[in-house]
Amino acid sequence: MAIRLEVTPKITTNFKSRHILSLDQFTPVSLRKLFETTDRIIKLLKRKSPLEILKRSVITLLFFEPSTRTFGSFSSAIKRLGGQTIDLLDPEKTTSFVKGESLKDTMQVLGTYSDIIIIRHPEKGFVQKAAAVSPVPVISGGEGAGEHPTQALYDTFTLYQKFGKLSHLKGLVLGDALYSRSIHSFIKALSLFPKDVIYLFSPPGLEISYDFERKLHGKIKLVRITRENEIPEDCNFWYTNRIQKERFKSRSVYEKALKDFPVITPELLAKKGNRDMIILDPLPRVGNIDIRVDSDPRSLYLTKQLENGVYIRMALVSLILGKI
Ligand code: NCD
Repeated sequence: MAIRLEVTPKITTNFKSRHILSLDQFTPVSLRKLFETTDRIIKLLKRKSPLEILKRSVITLLFFEPSTRTFGSFSSAIKRLGGQTIDLLDPEKTTSFVKGESLKDTMQVLGTYSDIIIIRHPEKGFVQKAAAVSPVPVISGGEGAGEHPTQALYDTFTLYQKFGKLSHLKGLVLGDALYSRSIHSFIKALSLFPKDVIYLFSPPGLEISYDFERKLHGKIKLVRITRENEIPEDCNFWYTNRIQKERFKSRSVYEKALKDFPVITPELLAKKGNRDMIILDPLPRVGNIDIRVDSDPRSLYLTKQLENGVYIRMALVSLILGKI
């Protein structure tokens, strides 16, 4: 069966009935539409009356990997809109996958019970396979070391809120750029806009792959650095993500990388930061940001960035269901 993403055009302003699998589907126009809708949702939430945009809608959360924020914020987003969820956590133990039911049958069943299926899975390509046999739209909640599109949608929304643009930005990306799906989608999102520059600071062996970089076709300038001294002092943002422990095949490689992992500390900020920058992390934070940085007003990872995860997901599901 043909995989729909490959044969359908990019999303412009019409999100209705579309799968959300990769940042490759997005354009500056679709991001603007999503951000405008998110601003509308934020305004609607200030009213006293409960929202009924998703009244009578049911959305399935099919999560094969652990999740706090993606599961929690989608669930919160749907419920704040008056919708309901079917929560299938650890489905390889808790659903008929155990009995050998095929993916096609599973999607047919869940697509009969619900209007969207949100999937997180450890294998790159799985969500696309599921979308190809799904009777309803599928949203990726992150797959393997591939992509995490909805994460990038709210990371870039947070940048946009601060700077009013997504072009001409200079940023530092710290951490596991080889395995972090959040970093992959984030870089793809920024590559949609002109004149952004990203400095990449990863431990040896966890640099972004040349294959990934080649597929960006030079649309964004990536500068690989290996020492703190090379961090420019005029970055608009620092974006970090933890070492993706679960993706390592060898414990010794993991331990070595952990030792060399760049950590955001108040000292590093004092040396290389500036007043107007912001600090983002998709979280969980696992040793990659010193907790003393949390109270710094430039740190948005436990405040604005998190909130935006709910708002962007509210806008996204409403648009896909044609309810807003
Ligand atoms: C990210 C993920 O699952 O890829 N988490 C998230 O959804 N906020 C980042 C991570 O696990 O490090």
